[in-house]
Amino acid sequence: MSEIVTVGLGARSYDIHVGAGAIAHAGALLKPLARGTLPVVTDENVAKLHLDAFVASLHAQGIQTAPIVMAAGEATKSFAGLERLSSALLKSGVDRGGLIVALGGGVIGDLTGFAAAVLKRGIDFAQVPTTLLSQVDSSVGGKTAINTVEGKNLVGVFHQPRIVIADTAILKTLPRREMLAGYAEVLKYGALGDAAFFAWLEANGAKVLAHEDNALIHAVAHSCRMKAAIVERDEREKGERALLNLGHTFGHALEAATGFSDRLLHGEGVAIGMVLAFRYSASLGLCTADDAARVERLVRASGLPASIGDIPGVRPGTDELMTHMAHDKKVKDGKLVFILARSVGQSFVAEDVDAARVRAFLADTP
Ligand code: GLY
Repeated sequence: MSEIVTVGLGARSYDIHVGAGAIAHAGALLKPLARGTLPVVTDENVAKLHLDAFVASLHAQGIQTAPIVMAAGEATKSFAGLERLSSALLKSGVDRGGLIVALGGGVIGDLTGFAAAVLKRGIDFAQVPTTLLSQVDSSVGGKTAINTVEGKNLVGVFHQPRIVIADTAILKTLPRREMLAGYAEVLKYGALGDAAFFAWLEANGAKVLAHEDNALIHAVAHSCRMKAAIVERDEREKGERALLNLGHTFGHALEAATGFSDRLLHGEGVAIGMVLAFRYSASLGLCTADDAARVERLVRASGLPASIGDIPGVRPGTDELMTHMAHDKKVKDGKLVFILARSVGQSFVAEDVDAARVRAFLADTP
């Protein structure tokens, strides 16, 4: 079984190919887009596991490749990383009619997309995401960026890929914790906009996490379908696209308070943040306590952390969390912007959230 999801953006439309073993078809899928030697940007971990199979699939179609292997880890998504990558790409001889491939997780996808957008004023690129998080979120929708000392993703542009190839079979090589962190973003789609998908995840989540092909392909493809629909309506995040940030305001503050360290992965922060967003919504009478409990139950049943107290080590203080939220790039005109919920599957952008109430809520939350 495999699925194709189209992101409909007129002349910039593209397909997301989701399937177990999709990498074996990468050569055939990329052949119509490839010109000359194809730079394949990856990191040292992904290179060990998947580069040979990927390159073999391209070679079988007569496509020559120039692998560029970057250091693994978030530090690569930086001006220094961009400089190294730009230099390697320019040396590879890729030109404006060419194609650059990002083979890896969010760091490689975001950095490569950004380099592709700015080199020679814009070169096409393909996303071959190798983590669940990048398959359901960062490889789709055209957000590219690097981090600066001031914060994450603050330097970037929108640059849509020409194609996304998501091979669900290679997720078997992901550490369990990373798989779960990506799964938090899958849960997010159900919680933010699709009650039927949320119910499907309640019934089938264990199969997804056990890598049952059909369940995993459905979860990835449906997440991509939901993201594609939102991106089609609001590519530049003027409104509705912000719904994809459900759980992210609390989540980013928790990540910042734990130093963006191994204590809390991004997806784990999103999982806790999503539960907090529902609990906060329930405290305002926007959704029911049962809705919030249902979200918390599914997060916990999946094996993800669901409360601040689940984070190992010293609990981040309320003042610290409030300070991080005030610095979040989603702050608009000094007001806290949150994604809140009216029920499971019905979220909305709340642009005028009262900081004092959030503070009281956090101080009182387990
Ligand atoms: N990751 C959120 C977005 O793409 O808008």
